[in-house]
Amino acid sequence: MTSDLFDFLTVGSYNLRNRIIMAPMTRSRADDNGIQPEIAVTYYTQRSSAGLIISEATNVSAMAKGYPRTPGLYTPDQIAAWQPVTDSVHAQGGLIFAQLFHTGRVALPDFLPDHVQPVAPSAIAIDGENYTDEGMKRFVVPRALEVAEIASVVQEFAEATRNALSAGFDGVELHGASGYLVHQFLSPVSNQRTDDYGGSVENRVRFLLEVIDAMVSVAGSERVGIKLSPQMPFNGNEEPDAEEVYVYILHALANRHLAYIHVADHINAGWHAKLRPLSVSPFFAGANFNKDTGRELLKNNGADAIVYGSLFVANPDLVTRFEQDAELNVPDASTFYVPGPKGYTDYPTLADLQEAQYSR
Ligand SMILES: Cc1cc2nc3c(=O)[nH]c(=O)nc-3n(C[C@H](O)[C@H](O)[C@H](O)COP(=O)(O)O)c2cc1C
Repeated sequence: MTSDLFDFLTVGSYNLRNRIIMAPMTRSRADDNGIQPEIAVTYYTQRSSAGLIISEATNVSAMAKGYPRTPGLYTPDQIAAWQPVTDSVHAQGGLIFAQLFHTGRVALPDFLPDHVQPVAPSAIAIDGENYTDEGMKRFVVPRALEVAEIASVVQEFAEATRNALSAGFDGVELHGASGYLVHQFLSPVSNQRTDDYGGSVENRVRFLLEVIDAMVSVAGSERVGIKLSPQMPFNGNEEPDAEEVYVYILHALANRHLAYIHVADHINAGWHAKLRPLSVSPFFAGANFNKDTGRELLKNNGADAIVYGSLFVANPDLVTRFEQDAELNVPDASTFYVPGPKGYTDYPTLADLQEAQYSR
C-alpha cells in the first residue's frame, strides 16, 4: 500500500498522526547522575508534532554509560525527571518511546562506577577514540561478560522498560544499532565467544532476542520497537556476514509482532529494500532522508514511515515546514552535545520567525 508523510499510521496500539518520526538523538544535556534537566521538557515538547518521538539513547544501568551527560532510566530520580517530558508531549497530543541502550565496549572507564573496565561480548578493544569532556580518549580493552552476567544485563533492559512505562513513555525502542552492546554481539569481529552467544548467526543473535523478549514481557509486543543499522561503520562495527544476520533477525522478529522495525541505512546499501519485505511490523526507514526522498520511498511502498534526525534537531516544527514546503533551519553540529539551551531549545519555528518579522 502506498502512503504519504502526512497520513495516519497504526503502530502497535497507537494511531500516529503522521509518518514523520523523530529519530533517537543523544543530546548530552543531563547531569552527571543521568537526570534530565527541565529544558528537556521544552526540547521534546517543541517537537511533539512528530508522528512519534523516539527519545535519545537512555542508559539501562550505570555500566551502560558511554557518553557524558547521557540520561538513565535506572534510578528513581532519573525516572521522575522523565515524567514531565512525557506528560508535556502527551498534553500536545504527541507520542514518545524511550530508546534503551547499553554501550558495552564503547564505554570508557571515565564514565563507569569506580572507573572499572567496560563489558562486551569479547575482550576486544575498538581501534579508535571516544568523546569525553577532556577531549578524545582511546577506547579500552573491555572485559568479556560471563554467561550469568548476560542474564543480568537482559534483566536490566526489562527493568528499564518497566521504569520507562512508569515514567509515562508510550513504549520502548531497543537500540540494536551504532556499534553498541546489542550490535557488538551480532558481529563475528566484536563477538568471538565460543559459548551459546557466539559463533553461529543464531548464537550471535541470541542476546538481541533475549533482550527483546524481556522487554516484550514487560511492555507487550505492541509497545516495543527495535532499531538496527546494518554495517554502519561506527564504533568499530564490522559485519562481514550482515546479509545472513539481518535476514535471520527479521525472520525471528516476525513471530514477535513488534510495534515497529526501524532500520537506519547509513551506508545507502539497499538495506531498506532488503529488509522491508521481511517485516510484518510497520517499517521505519531512516538516515539521510529529506522530504522528497522520504515521500518517494513511502509512495513506492518502501517503508511505512520515515525517520528524520538532524533535521528535527534544527526544525522543531519540521512537520509544519514539510506541509508548507517552507525553508529549513540548518543544524549546527557544534551544539549537538554541549550542555545548555543553545542549539537545543532555541531553533526558531516558522511562527517565531514571522513574529520576529512583525515586531521589527
Ligand atoms: C546529534 C545526534 C545524536 C544521535 N544520537 C543517537 C542515539 O542516541 N541513538 C540512535 O539510535 N541514533 C542516534 N543518532 C542517529 C540518528 O538517530 C539517525 O539515525 C541519523 O542522524 C541519521 O538520520 P538523519 O540523516 O536524518 O540525521 C544521532 C544522530 C545525531 C545527529
